[in-house]
Amino acid sequence: MKRTKYTIANWKMNGSKKSVKIIKSFVKYMKKSNYSSSKIIICPPFTLLSNFIKEEPNILYGAQDCHHLDFGAYTGSISALMLKSIGCKYVIVGHSERREYQSESSTDLSKKIDAALRNNLKVIYCIGEKKEQIKKRYSVLNQQIKSLPSKFSHNNIIIAYEPVWAIGTGMTPSILDINEIHLKIRNLLSKKIGKEISNKISILYGGSVNSSNSSDILSLDQVDGALVGGASLKSKDFCKIFDSY
Ligand code: 13P
Repeated sequence: MKRTKYTIANWKMNGSKKSVKIIKSFVKYMKKSNYSSSKIIICPPFTLLSNFIKEEPNILYGAQDCHHLDFGAYTGSISALMLKSIGCKYVIVGHSERREYQSESSTDLSKKIDAALRNNLKVIYCIGEKKEQIKKRYSVLNQQIKSLPSKFSHNNIIIAYEPVWAIGTGMTPSILDINEIHLKIRNLLSKKIGKEISNKISILYGGSVNSSNSSDILSLDQVDGALVGGASLKSKDFCKIFDSY
């Protein structure tokens, strides 16, 4: 089954106006190498999105969060409608850092996913177990999958499996484990939305992906791309990652 591959940069709370240089160098590299093996999506902080979209429109952009309502008295929040209006195409929902530090519940996440889809944004939905949950990994992942709507397609939802213990730590599951976990995630998705659609859903791996381990991870048949944190802030490293399919 041929699925769309994605290389996604999650800049988290990093970057400044000057970081457009990094994006321009990605685009230059992509053009030079006639690169088309994966779709590249950059998710900078909200403050940079609008500027980047204007300054370098030859790439896709995503936000790192959205509110579940379109507008209203919600100080500090940004809605999916607002993101859509500036030309943003994707939004990350359910990142473990937001589940943890912003106490986002599965109900909150369901509402955010609905808001994104209602506004025609594509959702990058993150799931993953904490270190102490490794033994009950699949029940944790299944619970997180429940936040997805009852109907969706590979055109509007991308899954990112990010084991919490692998984020920013330099640790990853073994290569064999990554493939097996992705296959099991696909089986869990199949129970929810059926085999045909689940076979088409792109499931990305995230958590300490870098230019040294990316070829091994991205060559796995169940891995449809990478969600990259730290290594996406350095243009050389990120270019090497999207070169390694
Ligand atoms: P690192 O690549 O820095 O481990 O971060 C992964 C991540 O959280 C991407 O969303």
